[in-house]
Amino acid sequence: MKAFPVAENVWWVGVVDWSVRNFHGYETNRGTTYNAFLIIDEKITLIDTVKAPFFAEMRDRIASVIDPEKIDYIVSNHAEPDHSGALPAAVAAFKPEKVFASTAGVAALEAYYGKGMPLEPVRTGESLSLGRNTLHFVETKMLHWPDSMLSYLDGSKVLFSQDALGMHYATSYLWADQCDRKIMEYEAKKYIANILLHLSNKVIATLDLLPGLGLDIDVIAPDHGPLWRTPEDQQWIIDLYYRTAQQPWGKKALIVYHSMWGSTAAMAKELMDGFREAGIEADLVSLDVEERSSVATRVLDAGVVAVGSPTINNQMFPAVADVLCYLRGLKPQRHIGFAFGSFGWSGEGAKQVNQALTDMGFEMPLPVLAARYAPDAAVREQSFAAGVELGRLLKEKTTTKN
Ligand code: FEO
Repeated sequence: MKAFPVAENVWWVGVVDWSVRNFHGYETNRGTTYNAFLIIDEKITLIDTVKAPFFAEMRDRIASVIDPEKIDYIVSNHAEPDHSGALPAAVAAFKPEKVFASTAGVAALEAYYGKGMPLEPVRTGESLSLGRNTLHFVETKMLHWPDSMLSYLDGSKVLFSQDALGMHYATSYLWADQCDRKIMEYEAKKYIANILLHLSNKVIATLDLLPGLGLDIDVIAPDHGPLWRTPEDQQWIIDLYYRTAQQPWGKKALIVYHSMWGSTAAMAKELMDGFREAGIEADLVSLDVEERSSVATRVLDAGVVAVGSPTINNQMFPAVADVLCYLRGLKPQRHIGFAFGSFGWSGEGAKQVNQALTDMGFEMPLPVLAARYAPDAAVREQSFAAGVELGRLLKEKTTTKN
């Protein structure tokens, strides 16, 4: 295992996790990376660690540069176990003098791993001299955990941005300018949609704060995905995060549904034709083939979200409830909603969908549309008409101010 150079005296010693497909319920189709960084200075410092099972790989990468037992400090920018899981093993094996984390980070690390580590809290504005370089700390509370913070290494001019400005994308390339731009755009948006969307205001506030810190940055080094070394790429990812967090009205329609016997699916297809008639691009997503994190990503670009569910045992279908529960937590902004679906005798499914979308703050201009057993010609026509009307309303939104 080798370390790879990031900047003068800074090495990437992380792990590419090619096989992870489920990141606490977020489908990571392209795997991810757990980036960790080694700083060679008078005080040898490790920035973050990796997920617990990958400790040996990180240790071996470090050992390709220096005896790991020479590590003096470890900085934990974020206590979530994808970055701290290997910390107890690292502390036991490397015996660092200190492990630095934010105050909330110290509390979280002690809660996860006990009180045996030489933890020391640091706060915004504090710095740590490593010899030739100094690390500066900036807490980013609730972005996206209470403990989260950034570290900036002057001299080498590296901003260790932790989860921020990252994405789940396994690649053998270290640098963003070596990677496929379209893939990065999709995966960064997916990351924001699934991890940060409910914190959009904090994302914007933090990005607004960065220029005022006056940091001279050569490299932005997040804990996931490729690193950003050119000014153009750094601006590209900052702009993408900023734009996405602003959550402008999406221009597309999204139809998400589950169908037991084809009735809700038939209504979904009529709706689709209605959007086509209205000249609105629409995606039709069956929850048989997609799951919550993909849907959450699609919602970013969708000004209309139409959700269809049959009724089963007096409830909406569980796959639909899963997606709605997930979206409710992510708090997507600026959407028109619509609920539809079939039922046999009690009919709660589409009504529950309607209530869930209403509770999420979606604009709900049309009543619930339900079909008993199967959509007859009248319901099919109403489904089509709903698509046309929702498309018209979306055009009004997107052609006036956001
Ligand atoms: Fe990559 Fe919030 O951990």
